[in-house]
Amino acid sequence: MEAAGSILKLNNIEVMYHEVILVLKGVSIEVPQGGIVALLGANGAGKSTTLKSISGLLKHEDGEVTDGSIEFMGEKIHHLSAEEIAKRGIFQIIEGRRVFEHLTVEQNLRVGAHLRGGDGSSVKERLEMVYRYFPRLVELRNVLAGFISGGEQQMTVIGRALMAQPKLMLLDEPSMGLAPLLIKEIFDIITKLNREEKIPLLLVEQNVKLALTVAPYAYVLENGRLVMHDTSEKLKENPDIRDFYLGLSDIGERKSFRQVKHYKRRKRWLT
Ligand SMILES: Nc1ncnc2c1ncn2[C@@H]1O[C@H](COP(=O)(O)OP(=O)(O)OP(=O)(O)O)[C@@H](O)[C@H]1O
Ligand SMILES: [Mg+2]
Repeated sequence: MEAAGSILKLNNIEVMYHEVILVLKGVSIEVPQGGIVALLGANGAGKSTTLKSISGLLKHEDGEVTDGSIEFMGEKIHHLSAEEIAKRGIFQIIEGRRVFEHLTVEQNLRVGAHLRGGDGSSVKERLEMVYRYFPRLVELRNVLAGFISGGEQQMTVIGRALMAQPKLMLLDEPSMGLAPLLIKEIFDIITKLNREEKIPLLLVEQNVKLALTVAPYAYVLENGRLVMHDTSEKLKENPDIRDFYLGLSDIGERKSFRQVKHYKRRKRWLT
């Protein structure tokens, strides 16, 4: 991808937890201005760690970027605190939809407006924008967030980030545990947000088919290392991706466990 148009660049980063557990090794990722990039990989591959190293939340878990650098809009940010990184406009939607359960939906949204100055538009204008993207939240505005459904909580959390007028959003498995129709609804909104508000997105998804549909470019992590990155068009045709992540063999059906095991043995990019 062209370097000039990137809003975010991870240059060969290495990440450790507790000064001893090496989790990411030589990870380089770029997110183009206004683009959507997907980060794929199995459980424990290091996807959430990658997002946390960008948002600075890593430091809250005794994690650290020990080598390489992270540049956002041309400035190095990996040494900054999560608060300072949020002020610059990077927001991570963490796994598991953390709403403030004892606040109403609208109070949850208002919290977002205070996370960052933004461009000067009023809280009222920002709320109107969030309700325009998430019309479902209008009728729930006075309901305690602890009582709404998982999908509505996910919308509230994304809406809260939107209230801060983000320059980059990091989404960690927004589809997790949601019904297919809701997943479609949320992803339609996310795509629209990217298109209309020009918010670049780095998307972590276990649902690889969905991720490769939404993001034109994707990276694949395995055991803390990048093993592939390419356009989604190409990745969808890649036999390893088809087999391991999409569950499709070349004849278009799920392989038996024995066949997959055999395939794994000859998989070139597994270290
Ligand atoms: N706070 C932590 N302290 C120590 N090790 C951690 C910590 N958080 C994550 N790890 C380890 O780092 C590795 C990567 O974890 P991470 O959560 O980034 O993976 P992931 O790709 O997001 O997985 P999942 O799909 O399960 O969410 C795992 O081996 C995990 O055990
Ligand atoms: Mg994770």
